[in-house]
Amino acid sequence: MRISVKELNKLLSEEILKKITSLGEICMNAGLQCYLVGGTVRDVILKVPQIDIDIVTEGNDKLFKDVSKKLIIKKIAFSQFNTAKLLFKDGFSLDIAQARKEIYPYPTSLPVVRRSSIHEDVKRRDFTINTLLMGITKKDFGKIYDYLGGIEDIEKGIIRALHKNSFIDDPTRIFRAFRFKERFSFRFDRETKNLMDNSIKAGYIKKLTPQRIRRELFLSLKEANWDKIIMNLSRSGVLKELGIKQKMTRSSITTFMRIIRNFNVTNQNWELSKLLIITENAQKKDIKAFSQKVGLRRNEVSILLELRRNGKIIVKTLSKKDLPNNKIYWLLEKIPIEGLFYLLGKGTPLSRKRIMLYFNNLKDIKINIKGDDLKKLGIKGGPIYKKILQKVLDEKLNGELKSKKEEIEFVKRIIYKPSQL
Ligand code: CTP
Repeated sequence: MRISVKELNKLLSEEILKKITSLGEICMNAGLQCYLVGGTVRDVILKVPQIDIDIVTEGNDKLFKDVSKKLIIKKIAFSQFNTAKLLFKDGFSLDIAQARKEIYPYPTSLPVVRRSSIHEDVKRRDFTINTLLMGITKKDFGKIYDYLGGIEDIEKGIIRALHKNSFIDDPTRIFRAFRFKERFSFRFDRETKNLMDNSIKAGYIKKLTPQRIRRELFLSLKEANWDKIIMNLSRSGVLKELGIKQKMTRSSITTFMRIIRNFNVTNQNWELSKLLIITENAQKKDIKAFSQKVGLRRNEVSILLELRRNGKIIVKTLSKKDLPNNKIYWLLEKIPIEGLFYLLGKGTPLSRKRIMLYFNNLKDIKINIKGDDLKKLGIKGGPIYKKILQKVLDEKLNGELKSKKEEIEFVKRIIYKPSQL
């Protein structure tokens, strides 16, 4: 199989193609092989426009130096696995790796790597669909090299592991498998599914470091089909391994998806909301265990625990008939947007209306006076300042104060009636 330049032009920008071509030339002049590899080639075949470019070469450190001299490169960053990230002046970056073999000293460890041939390099990979190479030198530009049946599996839509220890050596591949399955609507090869199930049952996931589990789980939550992936993680027992014993149901996910579809809130990945959904029926101690295993940050854990403890009470309070704006504000003020949108899915029509009032209006209300203004009024500094300013905000939230002058008048009134503070 050969991919034509015309076809590649549709998937890769001209600038990227130029860089890849120059890289191929440098390698060919040095007498070294050089290919696009892995997910990059898979996506070319599936006609997914490219962002991530991975290149593999049998070259050595000298080649990397040549490359950085001959291409206009801003920075070259080497990593522990004989790989380098080339950062170009225009901000584009690509990964270039020396072909390698991996040996796992013990299951789930990071691999020890040895230089090897390109052929060996594809054998260390996760699934057949990720083992393809595409030539980028003049003599083989666009030619696909398929040593392990990757093209057939892509065409049939099958996720197939390369060997029986794949999910034991590296259980992150379990998450990867679910991601690829749902992203491309593929299915698992039967033997591969058995190998995954066995690795899950044998508890290999727990042996991964929290950082690695976090990375995989968050990548899964960022996928367009995150809902299906979470359901898979639940059904297959992965979430149980991470401390969440209850099987998930689809209803919370569906409600949440409906809510975010209705709002045009950009720059939001909603990972925290999705974690709230995952943990919503779990007990406090299970949420703590999950948080530890997944390497959640302190602020993330505290919101999971806070909404578990008070979510129902908050929604109940927000559903009360007469609730002034300042009460709504102080109830919701510490909850991040992802928590608010999660609560939207849990409440009554009235509580939803009030969350929206907070989100669209109350949260941005600020008072005009500051500590300095209180000083000018002759009020002695101390904790009383905070109390006064909060009182002014309460009043403003309830629609009583329209200007800085009115705020100052209000302060004058209350400082002569300390019982109001
Ligand atoms: N790889 C692997 N085992 C892993 C991670 C990566 O074998 N645990 C190999 C695969 O060949 C993969 C390549 O390294 O295609 C690049 O990895 P990465 O960039 O993480 O994955 P992609 O396949 O490009 O997936 P995505 O599209 O999600 O970035």
